[in-house]
Amino acid sequence: MKMGEKRFITFEGGDGTGKTTLIERLAKDLESQGYSILKSREPGGSRISEQIRNVILNIENTEMDYMTEALLYAASRRQHLQEVIKPAINNGKIVILDRYVDSSLAYQGYARGIGIDKVYAINNYAIDGFFPDLTIYIDVAPEIGISRIKNNHRDMDRLDLEKIEFHKKVREGYLKVSQMFPERIKVVDGNKTIDEIYSEVKKIVLSEL
Ligand code: TYD
Repeated sequence: MKMGEKRFITFEGGDGTGKTTLIERLAKDLESQGYSILKSREPGGSRISEQIRNVILNIENTEMDYMTEALLYAASRRQHLQEVIKPAINNGKIVILDRYVDSSLAYQGYARGIGIDKVYAINNYAIDGFFPDLTIYIDVAPEIGISRIKNNHRDMDRLDLEKIEFHKKVREGYLKVSQMFPERIKVVDGNKTIDEIYSEVKKIVLSEL
């Protein structure tokens, strides 16, 4: 296996941006080139992290404080990092994650209004500076993202039920975060067909590996 510099790749975007499909395709293509890949997702990715995920996404937990939510995401992330992500990278794998710290910066920091800096501080503490080498942000207009979720007939969770305004804020948050870390975060236009989006993603990843 070739050992590239960039071994920790994350995908980010609002709900319904096709991240899961893009990750599947990328992992397959990289595997066929001889890379060893570990795919995972947040919130979740390990037994304890999944348990925390269930608390966060439980639709009955309507009284959850936003800061509690941010801390739970960070705690879940810490466990995932220690138990799954770091060991895989140390074993020479390329780790591809569906969501990581930038989700918290955009959702909790910006859209929920805690503040990007504050949520950055919580997360930097939780992950001890272990940021991705490369982040692909799939930028989709909120109306398009929501209509894609409905077409998928996917289960709606507590966060999906939020109004379209919230999705707009999430997007604004992601764009701000992308501007804060232009070296790490590559913005991909997600309003095209999945094939077009994927070829853009693949080009970026192959040029960075
Ligand atoms: P899920 O259905 O697991 O993921 P997706 O929408 O990517 O298919 O739902 C995860 C939800 O949690 C999603 O709406 C984004 C949100 N989220 C945060 O608010 N903060 C975070 O740090 C993470 C990882 C996710």
